Amino acid sequence: MNAEDVNEVSPPRRDTARAVLETAQAMYAKGLVEGTAGNVSGRVGDGTFCLTPSSLGYEAMRTTDLVIVDADGAVLAGNGHPSSEKALHLACYRQWAEVGGVVHCHPLYASMFAVARQTIPAAIEEVVIYIGGDVEVCDYHLTGSDELGEAVAAAMGERSAVLMANHGLVTVGRDPADALHAALVVERTAHIVWGARLLGKPGSVPEKVNEDFAGVYRWVRESTWGAESRP
Ligand code: 13P
Repeated sequence: MNAEDVNEVSPPRRDTARAVLETAQAMYAKGLVEGTAGNVSGRVGDGTFCLTPSSLGYEAMRTTDLVIVDADGAVLAGNGHPSSEKALHLACYRQWAEVGGVVHCHPLYASMFAVARQTIPAAIEEVVIYIGGDVEVCDYHLTGSDELGEAVAAAMGERSAVLMANHGLVTVGRDPADALHAALVVERTAHIVWGARLLGKPGSVPEKVNEDFAGVYRWVRESTWGAESRP
């Protein structure tokens, strides 16, 4: 037992733990990961963060298995060991004050692009609206390393998703559910682009439309993400 049970902690920590668990189980149910792969976290808003535990099956996972850490990664509450990708999650929260949820997963089609080290182009309008533009690939760094976290935060820029070379996908959002939605949009787009390339030479969304929708993305992020919009 590390510290307090997450169910005994303050209401914001408890609510974030529930949101993280719900999102982690949905990520598994949607097939974005196999077994215990992937991880999910949420910003509590009191300077702490709630993470899924390392190497635990999602179906059996309970809020008591989740872990509350401070900004340096020190465990404050929960029974489990925090995800081995703790550094990656904390790097995203450090980089963007408005981000309230982070999802890391290994979706099939997006991971093909990560292995081929190819950008997923914003070939569908919704990608620009929800992700902000193309999904770039950051350089390879060892799973769980501080370097991977720094590289992900740098390569994601002001968008909601980035691929990790030969590994998988990281997405951010206003809360954990929003970050999962971003992951699903990326995976769907990767699948569509993969298929469209088999059919022929895919067309592109007009540049002006992309610019306008990127503006919509920025507006939504600036006006609806952030501590004041959290439960
Ligand atoms: P954890 O089980 O430690 O969260 O690791 C899973 C994973 O996907 C590492 O990249």
